[in-house]
Amino acid sequence: MSVRNKHQLKADAANWLKDLANAGDTGGLNWHVHAVRSLQRWLPTRGLIAALLAGIQPAQKHLLLIGCSAGWMLPTPWLARFERIDIYDIDPLVPLLFGLRHGRALKAQGVQLHYRRQDAIVGLPGLLNQHPDACLWFDNVLGQVSFRLGDEDIAERQLGQLKHLLARRSWGSLHDVYSGPVDSDMGLPAYDTVRWTRLDDEPEETAKVRIQEQVCLHEVAVQQLLSRLNAKGVWHDHATRTVFPPGTQTSMLPWAFRPHYWHWLQAAWVRP
Ligand SMILES: C[S@@+](CC[C@H](N)C(=O)[O-])C[C@H]1O[C@@H](n2cnc3c(N)ncnc32)[C@H](O)[C@@H]1O
Repeated sequence: MSVRNKHQLKADAANWLKDLANAGDTGGLNWHVHAVRSLQRWLPTRGLIAALLAGIQPAQKHLLLIGCSAGWMLPTPWLARFERIDIYDIDPLVPLLFGLRHGRALKAQGVQLHYRRQDAIVGLPGLLNQHPDACLWFDNVLGQVSFRLGDEDIAERQLGQLKHLLARRSWGSLHDVYSGPVDSDMGLPAYDTVRWTRLDDEPEETAKVRIQEQVCLHEVAVQQLLSRLNAKGVWHDHATRTVFPPGTQTSMLPWAFRPHYWHWLQAAWVRP
């Protein structure tokens, strides 16, 4: 074995361990522990996600499922509509934990599962070539790109390119848009979805958004969203505003991520 190979092996092992622990601050063991302890608090948001996905019925029977972790928030019945699912995540624990949470039920219904440990954002062009007939679901992963890159502007540019790469595909995403502290945790009335459509690709100050039936400047619409959750202090922007093509009707879903700390998630399905 050459010296270079030894270094390469060491670097691979270090990456494996880092991804096992926290997947570049986006998942890993940290995430699984938090998810298991939060499942009950997340129940209303999991219900919103299940209702939303029940209304999405792609014609394709092959799904590329990206960044799904153990699928803590995914409903098994929606996954069962596919004949084959290729699961891409950088976290080495995913085959074990996704298998425990969904694997047995899916296999019993004849769904073939294939696990791949790889960066599916950087490797997206290759995945699209390998699987020309598959549709894609980004499962709460795109809002973490800015954490992994450590730069919001680069993340926003990269994320803005995805829709062009995916132009001929059926695809969808659920991702973080904003997250931050709240004054007091809201009860059940907070758990309805808000219809949200970004109407143009203008810069932030002049972009227009249709929120429910009302058209507002982007910044005004964001303030409305935040006040619905009793937001206080500084909120984090996940740099995902340009993920969907302008005009895509999206749903904004409130999520009590941890006590006194909420997220607004955005979800939509895009057809070519
Ligand atoms: C917030 S967690 C996803 C949560 C998931 N929806 C659930 O219900 O548990 C983000 C996941 O994306 C994975 N991930 C982050 N960046 C990735 C990338 N570039 N390619 C593939 N997976 C990635 C992480 O390992 C993690 O499992």
